[in-house]
Amino acid sequence: MEAFEALLGRRTVPLPKLGEPGPDDATLARWLEAAAAAPDHGKLVPFRFLIVRGEGRRKLASLLERALLSERDSPPPGELEKMRTNPLRVPLVLIAWAELRPDHPKIPEIEQIEAVAAAVENLLVAIHATGFGAKWATGFPAYSPTVRQGLGLPATGRIVAIIYVGTPKAEQALPPRPAVADIARLWPENRPFGAGDGS
Ligand SMILES: Cc1cc2nc3c(=O)[nH]c(=O)nc-3n(C[C@H](O)[C@H](O)[C@H](O)COP(=O)(O)O)c2cc1C
Repeated sequence: MEAFEALLGRRTVPLPKLGEPGPDDATLARWLEAAAAAPDHGKLVPFRFLIVRGEGRRKLASLLERALLSERDSPPPGELEKMRTNPLRVPLVLIAWAELRPDHPKIPEIEQIEAVAAAVENLLVAIHATGFGAKWATGFPAYSPTVRQGLGLPATGRIVAIIYVGTPKAEQALPPRPAVADIARLWPENRPFGAGDGS
């Protein structure tokens, strides 16, 4: 797939629309190579990935459930159900996390997390470009100390994305995108760029 086609065509595929099969190892390795090609200030390589598939998904589901029950007094039943079932609904879950160096003299933490987010986007585009689909999720599990510890991440680890991956069961509609004129302004003229007036 051509680069712009992949960039413009990437979209979230919701869990009910993701099914088998997942990628083979060679395809997964290519995706991770694409992730590792992200811009990375200071070349700290903060991006890390956990690959969860097969029986691992059951263990992840039970970790998410246990975490929610231990950290929330009375979690909504729907939320509990999601923790229990989401990892089992797709063939592959990738957990992207940042291995932070909080005391780095030059590169602030936010830039280390930004590098991981850039890696996640590369990954999502690569997934789409090879005919698979994915959803980037965060929510409770991304910020839960119980989940972080249960996954074996260090105290300096931050979960940036829980990526549900599978094969789209049907073509997913492309969501509306913001117009260029709404997101870009000429400076210092302070007028929208690309508003069709030759600007
Ligand atoms: C940092 C981050 C966290 C996200 N967390 C969630 C999430 O918890 N649940 C969800 O449904 N989507 C989540 N998303 C995905 C966005 O909702 C999705 O990309 C957006 O709706 C646009 O749809 P698209 O991906 O099809 O363009 C997240 C995206 C980002 C960048």
